[in-house]
Amino acid sequence: MPKLASELSGQVNERLNQVGPSGIREFDLRISSVPDIIKLTLGEPDMNTPEHVKEAAIKSIQANDSHYSAQKGTIELRRAISGYLKKSQNLDYDPETEIIATVGATEAVTATFLSMLNPGDKVIIPTPAFALYFPLVTIAGAELIMVDTSKDGFILTPESLEAVLKKEGPAVKAVLLNYPGNPTGVEYPEETIEALADVIREHHMYVIADEIYCELTYGVDHFSIAKILPERTVLINGLSKSHAMTGWRMGYIAAPAEFTANATKMHASW
Ligand SMILES: Cc1ncc(COP(=O)(O)O)c(C=O)c1O
Repeated sequence: MPKLASELSGQVNERLNQVGPSGIREFDLRISSVPDIIKLTLGEPDMNTPEHVKEAAIKSIQANDSHYSAQKGTIELRRAISGYLKKSQNLDYDPETEIIATVGATEAVTATFLSMLNPGDKVIIPTPAFALYFPLVTIAGAELIMVDTSKDGFILTPESLEAVLKKEGPAVKAVLLNYPGNPTGVEYPEETIEALADVIREHHMYVIADEIYCELTYGVDHFSIAKILPERTVLINGLSKSHAMTGWRMGYIAAPAEFTANATKMHASW
């Protein structure tokens, strides 16, 4: 077993060095052997990938459709994503220039943060939040501005967004909205999204909209912020939760072409 040379110990990326291992994964590993528990650790649907998806993948492998694809994903896949966004939420994204297929939504989030943020930028993250976001802000050298939503029904209210923007000033580059949210499951009503959009529109900032759970709403329709702020929104989504395909690693970014062109350079390293 190789042991790192003593003079190389600690000689790694300094920002990565400030980040600990994934707490969710550590906790999941620790409790997974406990019998008869309902695990609420990883966001894992309690069903399997639908048969028609599995059959299509088997057919594709057998047809040797297993070579390098286009950098942003095959055009057929990007057309399917574009068609889905149109059909499900009436969103318009050009499959040629405005969509990148990614290695799960995890890569979509990572590529978004790393292609958007510079050292000194501030990112607003309503908490409690999915743990992946925090280390990425650190790795990008940006500053994390957490807004506790626990007293507001786990929703970032327009008033609290306005207040934090006033306090933090123009260095705020983006606000992250994850809804339905992990870990709370809370969905944002359309009126709240409209009111948040009114605040965001007044500031020179992006919205990173992680809508990976948009198909898992109960009794309400999901309302994407990309519908009203397409020029500022980087939309993140994927098939992990909607199609019980967590192990397949299929996600995507949909955003204005200028943003996706830059994010594609980040995506090139996956
Ligand atoms: C809010 C949120 N975003 C992104 C992801 C990552 O999804 P994927 O498994 O497609 O990488 C998860 C996974 O749990 C999540 O909960």
